[in-house]
Amino acid sequence: LPIVILISGRGSNMRAIAEQATKGKLTVEIRAVISDRADAVGLATAAEFGIPAAALSPRDYADRPAYDAALASLVASYSPSLVVLAGFMRILTPNFIGPFADRILNIHPSLLPKYRGLHTHRRALEAGDTHHGVSVHFVTQELDGGPVIIQARVPVLVGDTEADLSARVQRQEHRIYPEAIEWFAQGRLELREDRAWLDGRRL
Ligand code: GRF
Repeated sequence: LPIVILISGRGSNMRAIAEQATKGKLTVEIRAVISDRADAVGLATAAEFGIPAAALSPRDYADRPAYDAALASLVASYSPSLVVLAGFMRILTPNFIGPFADRILNIHPSLLPKYRGLHTHRRALEAGDTHHGVSVHFVTQELDGGPVIIQARVPVLVGDTEADLSARVQRQEHRIYPEAIEWFAQGRLELREDRAWLDGRRL
């Protein structure tokens, strides 16, 4: 399955996906890694794997819709069957989501519908939650609101810092994101009627 991965930073999820693909455990071909930030560490990681890597800066565009149209054209030039958002820190408008409707995945570090948006680990700690986690979901126009595909739960331990909790969640991210992507690659997963379906069953 041809995919394009969008990142903004470290790219550890992208690395996990690339490693699984290299081992043949994930049947995807990563056609490109694209970042909205030229200084994203993940761009160098992509190059290590021999994956074409590019940056497209929002500063070169008048507004969000113009940027999203340019990003959509760039992504479309690689003809992906799936677009994977892996720490891509921008809100996407219909100019981007429209052309790839039903085939964009995102990973969000909370047990959705809890804690959409930013600073999820801090918010879970401040709320005194005993559990936290991560969700993979289809992307729709609603920010962090698309149908959830898979979640992993982790305990919040006494004395946890934001960094401790984030590291514990990330280990799960690197496990469940490749799993969800492989479901899609196998044709087992789809977005239909605004719901996620796996093997013909509504999730
Ligand atoms: C992850 O925590 C992911 O859940 C969130 O952004 C972070 C990306 O991390 N959406 P990385 O760049 O993959 O290391």
